[in-house]
Amino acid sequence: MTQGADNPHCGVEEKSLTKKQVLKYAEDLAVLFRAEKNQRLRLEESNAQLKKYAEDLRLSHQELQDFLLTASHDLQEPLRKAVTFGDLLKTRFRQQLGPAGFEYIDRLAGAVQRMQRLLDDLSAYSRLTIETHPRAPANMGEVISDAVAGVKSQAEALGGSLKLEIQPNPVLEVDAPQIGQMFKCLVANGLKFRKRGVPPELVIRSRRTDDGKWEFTVRDNGIGFEEKYLDRIFKPFERLHPSGEYDGAGMGLTVCRKIVERHGGEITAKSSAGNGAAFFVVLPEKQSPPRS
Ligand SMILES: Nc1ncnc2c1ncn2[C@@H]1O[C@H](COP(=O)(O)OP(=O)(O)OP(=O)(O)O)[C@@H](O)[C@H]1O
Ligand SMILES: [Mg+2]
Repeated sequence: MTQGADNPHCGVEEKSLTKKQVLKYAEDLAVLFRAEKNQRLRLEESNAQLKKYAEDLRLSHQELQDFLLTASHDLQEPLRKAVTFGDLLKTRFRQQLGPAGFEYIDRLAGAVQRMQRLLDDLSAYSRLTIETHPRAPANMGEVISDAVAGVKSQAEALGGSLKLEIQPNPVLEVDAPQIGQMFKCLVANGLKFRKRGVPPELVIRSRRTDDGKWEFTVRDNGIGFEEKYLDRIFKPFERLHPSGEYDGAGMGLTVCRKIVERHGGEITAKSSAGNGAAFFVVLPEKQSPPRS
């Protein structure tokens, strides 16, 4: 038997109490709904603001890239003129210039050439974000061996070797031409900064990391560098060795870092002066979907 059946007032009391409660609940619910709606609106507002910031950032980054590309292209023109006039001076004023004058003009031409190389490297760097290729699953063993074939022959011609120890061949979602360019740049450094009189021994290895990524190591037996300068070598135009002995603009590793970061990866190195160098590239297997 129910309690209401024993107590004739019970049902009435329960009914009015429930009505009050319902009203209270309704009020509470309305307050909650309003609060939730306000919160949603605030969230939508900050989302829209965030999207705008991201778009502004993208545009200003794009502007900077375009500026870099145009500037590095346009600056080539006056340099070409300087070379032309230097040549004219040498042919038309041969007598007046004399050997010293000739030498100055040659030095000027050398400086102009270096400047042209810097500008070329700068424009190549800014094109990295423009000239992209679709990220697609690629067999890294193939990508790497294709990219380093030229350096391998050069190493062998010097009595050395370039070995690939990429087992099993990992398949990674990458912009294959850019990743190939990165490995080529790393082994080219290994070859360039070799020890005099020692055949260059270069090795590229791969291993799966504990968190499911892939680590590639590019190791050489060259002159190495002091690790306290590690941060510097990935910055534009930073070089640790005398440019008279080793040519280059100091842009290779900057380009490598940009390529790796564009793939959501990381690059670092270990070395000590005189003891070779090892560069470590960690790449995820798959690329995260592009954000809208
Ligand atoms: N394998 C290596 N062994 C020793 N030093 C290295 C090695 N790789 C890079 N470095 C040092 O880091 C500097 C920066 O390297 P990076 O590749 O950016 O420039 P670069 O080779 O001098 O010129 P570029 O690559 O533009 O032709 C080099 O100048 C060199 O001092
Ligand atoms: Mg280099």
